[in-house]
Amino acid sequence: MGNAATKILIAPSLLAADFARLGEEAAAVERAGADWLHLDVMDGHFVPNITFGPLVIKALKPHTRMTMDVHLMIAPVDPYIAAFAEAGADHISVHPEAGPHLHRSLQMIRGLGKKAGVVLNPATPVEAVAQVLDLTDLIMVMTVNPGFGGQKFIASQLAKIATLRRMIDAGGHSIHLQVDGGITRQTAPDALAAGADCLIAGTAIFGRPDYAAAIAELRATG
Ligand code: DX5
Ligand code: ZN
Repeated sequence: MGNAATKILIAPSLLAADFARLGEEAAAVERAGADWLHLDVMDGHFVPNITFGPLVIKALKPHTRMTMDVHLMIAPVDPYIAAFAEAGADHISVHPEAGPHLHRSLQMIRGLGKKAGVVLNPATPVEAVAQVLDLTDLIMVMTVNPGFGGQKFIASQLAKIATLRRMIDAGGHSIHLQVDGGITRQTAPDALAAGADCLIAGTAIFGRPDYAAAIAELRATG
């Protein structure tokens, strides 16, 4: 992000882990140097896939000290926010399309003492978050259409990342700018150069035999 002092955060997405061994997988990426644990919650309605809910997140909590970065791909989202907060989520990120009142969703998340995030789909413009920056702790730019791991990075989103970086810096906001989808050693440098400070990666970490090497290689691309 053009600022050598800013630490690049690596958030492995558990979506690409062995679902029969989620606790061990979370502990393994923590040992391997991950910063945050990214948890993709899908409802088969907002996105065409189904994963897990608050019970699984609650069960994982004792297995890691990592920040639980929860990405909600469910609609409606508001009725479930409290359950994810109680389950142990530290960050709760929502899509503007997942409810009628994004401002209220963010207020609710902050009110529960959690960090609030806004996720922008590839077709969602930056304007969707522009009026709620004061309530936002994280912005996640989707560089794939949400629903599945292992998809191809959508490079047209780099300009959006750069625009958001300018908005965040110009306003003096303390907001993490995350990039989610298709992150590899090949695509990470462009995402970081555009201004992202947190790389979310599933396949590029859990798809490799050596998680520590995979995380170190992603971090080194910055
Ligand atoms: C997709 C999820 C991503 C996904 C990324 O809907 O939000 O977090 O796990 O997977 P990769 O890194 O394989 O593209
Ligand atoms: Zn995600």
